Order: sequence, then C-alpha cells, then structure tokens
Amino acid sequence: MNQNFLHIYTLIISVFLVSCSTMKENSITIVENPYGSIKGGKEISSFSFKNRHGVEMEVINYGAIVTTLRVPDRKGKLADVVLGFDNIEQYVSDKSYFGAICGRVGNRIAEGNFNLGGKDYNLAKNDNGNHLHGGIKGFNKRVWDAEIIENDGSPGLKLFYLSKDGEEGYPGNLSISVIYSLTDQNELKIEYEATTDQLTVINPTHHGYFNLSGAGEGDILDHELWINADKFTPVRQGLIPTGELKNVRNTPMDFREATRIGKRINQEDKQLEIGLGYDHNWVLNDWDSSLRLAVTLYEPLSGRFMEVLTTEPGMQFYSGNFLDGSSKGKLGKQYHHRSALCLEADHFPDSVNQPSFPTVVLKPKDIYTQTTVYRFSTK
Ligand code: GLA
Repeated sequence: MNQNFLHIYTLIISVFLVSCSTMKENSITIVENPYGSIKGGKEISSFSFKNRHGVEMEVINYGAIVTTLRVPDRKGKLADVVLGFDNIEQYVSDKSYFGAICGRVGNRIAEGNFNLGGKDYNLAKNDNGNHLHGGIKGFNKRVWDAEIIENDGSPGLKLFYLSKDGEEGYPGNLSISVIYSLTDQNELKIEYEATTDQLTVINPTHHGYFNLSGAGEGDILDHELWINADKFTPVRQGLIPTGELKNVRNTPMDFREATRIGKRINQEDKQLEIGLGYDHNWVLNDWDSSLRLAVTLYEPLSGRFMEVLTTEPGMQFYSGNFLDGSSKGKLGKQYHHRSALCLEADHFPDSVNQPSFPTVVLKPKDIYTQTTVYRFSTK
C-alpha cells in the first residue's frame, strides 16, 4: 500500500516536473506572416519571435535580415534597438546591409583577387575596387529557405541558402544554414553551418546596426564599449589590413576598459582618418574557437547593456560612419551619421591574402561553424 502510494506520488511529481519543463521550453513563440514579394514574384515571410520577458524579434527570409529587436530598458520599457525598414522594397534597395547576413566572405578582399589551390580567382568588386560583404549580390540580397525547427529544446528559425559555383566569382557550391534563436535569457543567438563541394572561402557575419537608446534616437557616441582585444589590424587606404597586428596601447583603439565611443572618435589619428571613424577589426584575445565574451556595450540613460559572445577570432567595430540620414528607416525615422554601430563577429578582413591570419578556407568534407550571441540586460 505504502509502496503503491510512493509510486503514484513519484508519478505525479514527474508529470508535474515534465510539464513545467515543457512550459519552459514552449515559452518562446515564432509566428510566420507574409511580408511582401520581390521582383520575379517570390513571396517573402517574416517570422516574429517572442520570449517570456516580452522581448520581440522579427526576421525575414530575404537576406536573413533581423528587422526588429525590442528589448527592455532598466524600467522595463521596450525599444527597438536595431536599424531597419518597414517594407521589403526598402530592404531590396538598401546599401547599408541593415540586419543582414553578409557573405560568402563578409568584409573586404583586396581587389577581389586571391589564389586558392593554385588557381586565381577574381571576385565581383563593389567597394572602390575591392570586394565587400560577398559582392554585388551577396547573401544579404538572396532569398533563403526558411523552416521553424526545434533547437536545444526551444524553437528556432533555420534559414538555408545554396550559393552556386561561380556566384560573385567564388568557387564551389556552398550550402549554408543560419539558425536564429531568441532565448529566455534575452539572447539573439546565431548559429552558422556550411559545406562545400570544392575548395572555397567562407567568412559570414551578421550586420546588425545597434543603438541601445532605440533606432533613430540620436547617435551612439555616449555608448560605452569594451572589447576584449589587445590588438587590432591596422588598415591602409580602402580599409584593407596591412597584415600587422598592432597593440592598442596608447591608441584610440584601446577599449580594454569600457570607454565612451565619442571620447576619441574625432581624435587626430591616421587609422581613424582612413576609417572616417571606427571601421576596424579587433583581434580577440586568446581565441580558441570556443564561445566567449568578446564585447560589451552600455547605454547609460536607458541602462541597456549588450554582451557579444562569439566563436570567431575577430570583431569588426563599425561606428556607422557612412550613415548620412538619406534613407528613411522604420516609422519614417532618419538614420543620421553615427546613429548606430555594428559589431560584426568574423575572421579578419582580407584573410585569404594574409597567410598569417586565421584561415577562411573551407575544404570539401569539412564543416564550417560559427556561433555568435548578442545578449541583452540592464545595469
Ligand atoms: C562594414 C564595413 C564598412 C561598411 C559597412 C556597410 O562595417 O567595414 O566599411 O561597408 O559595412 O556600410
């Protein structure tokens, strides 16, 4: 009798625990909606994520773009902290890569040229004679297949794209998937995987433009930035690395202590002059491909705090120097000079031409992976 009672009691407790954990797992919702169509008639969907804290994220399968990310300030008030547009037409004509996945190779390849496996390749040139963010029609301008999946016990959005041999000049058929998740820890998690059927290069990155006061709410000069890097890769004209890894000490690139972005951005400095501000790659300390904290960003008025964790060796910090208020963003807001910043986790620019940089070469049978997390909280 006692034994039976114990069994029933254990059963009830287990059912209760399982349903609690299922409830927890199911607290993330993803809802698909039509977003619009592009030339040629292809229908684009938007996917709206929500977590248990009311954080909202929206992703479209055009360009794998995160269009919205609404996170709380220290009083719990939500604001959309990423720049973007209200409709598909504007994303199609956008030249700033708002919220997109850039690739095959994000950032620059000098003159679009490289030699791989004894063959010379010449890629599309779309940035002052250099190749930038995958070329004229990179991953940010492609329609991705989308599927809501179960990922680590909660739903995620898996986006898939097949980049054909020769696309923008790159060798090999490259299959890439990107899984976007929103977690109950207020994280935007991005997991990449790619394979190829020929020797090729790959270095995708997420190109979100963040303003922790809210998109269109002033500039980012009072945001405080910390980067876990003792070195950066100085550049020559055209923002191509010289190959040197330079110590940040006594330069405006030193973010080893959290520092206001505006503090030194207009300082007389050759690197800032070439970049028109910050547009450089930092060499993250002690890179070992594990997921580690690389950057923190804090906006003192709202209290919003963002941590960036990545498996990548580099971080391109771009201070929105090319934003000029010319394109109207969400809700008709104008995005002025330095009204947002990008923290693009990836390998170093022009790595394929710099033998001393970590390699971006992908061989057939090998699997490329990257995980990058943008985690939000308040202080
Ligand atoms: C990256 C580049 C910048 C610029 C932006 C997009 O951050 O490094 O130079 O091209 O993308 O405008």
